[in-house]
Amino acid sequence: MHSEESPESHPLTSSAGQNLDPHLRRYAARAAGMTASEVRALFAVASRPEVVSLAGGMPNLAALPLDSIASEVASLIAREGMVALQYGSAHGVPALREQICDVMALEGISGHPDDIVVTVGSQMALDLVTRIFCDPGDIVLAEGPSYVGALGTFAAYQANVVHVEMDDDGLIPEALRQALSVAESRGQRVKFLYTIPNFHNPAGITLAVSRRAEILEICRRAGVLVVEDNPYGLLGFDGQTYPALRSMDPDNVVYLGSFSKTFASGLRVGWALAPHAVREKLVLAAEATTLCPPTLNQLIVSRYLETHDWQGQIKSFQQTYRERRDALLSGLEQHMPAGCTWTKPDGGFFVWMTTPEGIDTKAMLPRAVTARVAYVSGTGFYGDGFGSRQMRLSFCYPTPERIKEGIRRLAVVLEQELELYRTFGPASRRITSGPQTPSPDTA
Ligand SMILES: Cc1ncc(COP(=O)(O)O)c(C=O)c1O
Repeated sequence: MHSEESPESHPLTSSAGQNLDPHLRRYAARAAGMTASEVRALFAVASRPEVVSLAGGMPNLAALPLDSIASEVASLIAREGMVALQYGSAHGVPALREQICDVMALEGISGHPDDIVVTVGSQMALDLVTRIFCDPGDIVLAEGPSYVGALGTFAAYQANVVHVEMDDDGLIPEALRQALSVAESRGQRVKFLYTIPNFHNPAGITLAVSRRAEILEICRRAGVLVVEDNPYGLLGFDGQTYPALRSMDPDNVVYLGSFSKTFASGLRVGWALAPHAVREKLVLAAEATTLCPPTLNQLIVSRYLETHDWQGQIKSFQQTYRERRDALLSGLEQHMPAGCTWTKPDGGFFVWMTTPEGIDTKAMLPRAVTARVAYVSGTGFYGDGFGSRQMRLSFCYPTPERIKEGIRRLAVVLEQELELYRTFGPASRRITSGPQTPSPDTA
């Protein structure tokens, strides 16, 4: 009987890779761009306890004062339950929007609470921004590599991503100029530049302060909006912050913020700060999506900001992540084979590693997981198939000891791959079309 069958009994692809989804012909064209991200596909395997996961970007919540948060939540419901458990406005709780202005002030932003839209994580803000600006075929410029969740959103709205090269100082202004002029010569419409200026996901790089005004000027001249995504900006390991792009050009930047990395990702509270007219459209789009963000969660964040030393808590997160970053970097120095290079982040969660020629990080992943270490292959962070020699290594979640062990295991796998490459050549040439190899017409 259908009702008793588990989803596993209906695989969506045949062993030959054929799509078996019975609804396939019904989907809207935009659903074709919705595919499981590599991060998601990995989640189940990488979360087994024996695997050291350097894959996911889960914040480390162990340092949060759970008991006092619990009693705040209980008193919130007891005293303000009629509001906390009720619908609210799509715009977000006013008191929280005021507090968000205080949070943003730490990075030089002087926003008005009216121009903030509270969202279900900044992921929802990304969705709303893309929805109101992008028609199918429009171009979004993004760093190469870029955040996998943003690439998924752009694909879902059938926008095409053009990656702009970075170096150790972040987005390269000249590369941005070139991307814009190529798009113009092809008659393509560039809708916005999507950028993560601080402690980039996945690259771990920060946009040099000296480049910020130039990037903004290039976009302004080209009539291109800037979408600044900044979930990690307060997680500089020395407590350092950088001037937000939004603080330098309020009329041409939509700023996205989040409490996911500085407080609790499970509450799903983020926001967009937008030029006034854009804010109006965002509220309408938000209304159509969720009616309103969860009132209870907004009030929990608001109460937390009011009653806890949230800046002290952020300092303690900075310290935890710095220790983990150090463990990862020293492990890499100690164990990685010659030819591997990696970024050295000053904040955030991620290191981006480039492996020597001959390594395909996507093909290698199952072998790494068998060796009980997981990472995310670089290809997931590009919309164009690039990144097969790269990988993202997250240091946010495992303890320093586990990180070191994970890196040791990863180095062994890499050495073995390189040995295979030196002996037999590239992986693609090792697969021969002999009688045992299934081909599309025999499977
Ligand atoms: C760059 C970037 N933007 C947005 C998000 C989404 O965060 P949120 O939890 O606020 O939806 C993430 C989450 O990892 C991220 O790394």
